[in-house]
Amino acid sequence: APSFEFILTEKKGEKGNVGLITLNRPKALNALCDKLVSELSQAVDHFDNDDSVGALVITGSEKAFAAGADIKEMQCQTFSSNVKKGLLKDFEKIRECKKPIIAAVNGFALGGGNELAMLCDIIYAGDKAKFGQPEINIGTIPGAGGTQRIARSCGKSKAMEICLTGSPINAQEAESMGLVSKVFPADKLVEEAIKTAEKISSHSPLIVALCKESVNTAFETTLTEGLRYEKKIFYATFATEDQKEGMGAFVEKRKPSFKNN
Ligand code: CAA
Repeated sequence: APSFEFILTEKKGEKGNVGLITLNRPKALNALCDKLVSELSQAVDHFDNDDSVGALVITGSEKAFAAGADIKEMQCQTFSSNVKKGLLKDFEKIRECKKPIIAAVNGFALGGGNELAMLCDIIYAGDKAKFGQPEINIGTIPGAGGTQRIARSCGKSKAMEICLTGSPINAQEAESMGLVSKVFPADKLVEEAIKTAEKISSHSPLIVALCKESVNTAFETTLTEGLRYEKKIFYATFATEDQKEGMGAFVEKRKPSFKNN
């Protein structure tokens, strides 16, 4: 794996089939400076192309998942420099990953930190986690998907409350509104996320990628189009060896051995 300044990467799980990325810029509570985001997207791409890895986990420290985009880096930007540079555009690269990504959030997930978590496919929270979009406090608005993704996952009223007040919510509130799928004790969070990633990695990577794409389509299109898309992908799985293996193993009462084909 390439080596990085602001993140750590390692393979986890009994079979080494989980790619773990740890944001590691403790002096700035993992504020997402350009270099960190660029390293993160390289690491995601690296694990996406590693056939031994079936799913990824992104985490931070116990104190902070990430306290947002780097305010010191952004402070002096102008409208025209933002346009020329495409400020925060690199966050979206994480969407290109075909493998599922679990965000394991301890501590602060604020601004770009919450937006990074929402770019992932599953969010698990430690019981002391805090989620929020505090951009309004510093004279701007979320710029890496916050207004859009909270509205889609939790509805208008919650999205408005979070984005307009700038006040953070705790892990239990985040779970009850559906932003987060499970809450764990802080010191168990990463191992629980790895367990889920291992479970996902035990399935056919090919079918997992198709399934992820199908769920994501729900956020991109109408119900009728989404159902049509799902049906085509469902039918297409029958062109794979892994569907034959999966159903064959069930009928023969044995464990499937998927070949990613
Ligand atoms: N950018 C740059 N540096 C940051 C940062 C950020 N988003 N968040 C924290 N830091 C730095 C602090 O400046 C401080 O550095 P120094 O020691 O050099 O002063 C260090 O991290 C530790 O932070 P604090 O001393 O503030 O720690 P705390 O425990 O007292 O407070 C906190 C923690 C409540 C998270 C506070 O740091 C905070 O409010 N951070 C900013 C949160 C924020 O506004 N995020 C949104 C950023 S804008 C954005 O993300 C736009 C977008 O849509 C993508």
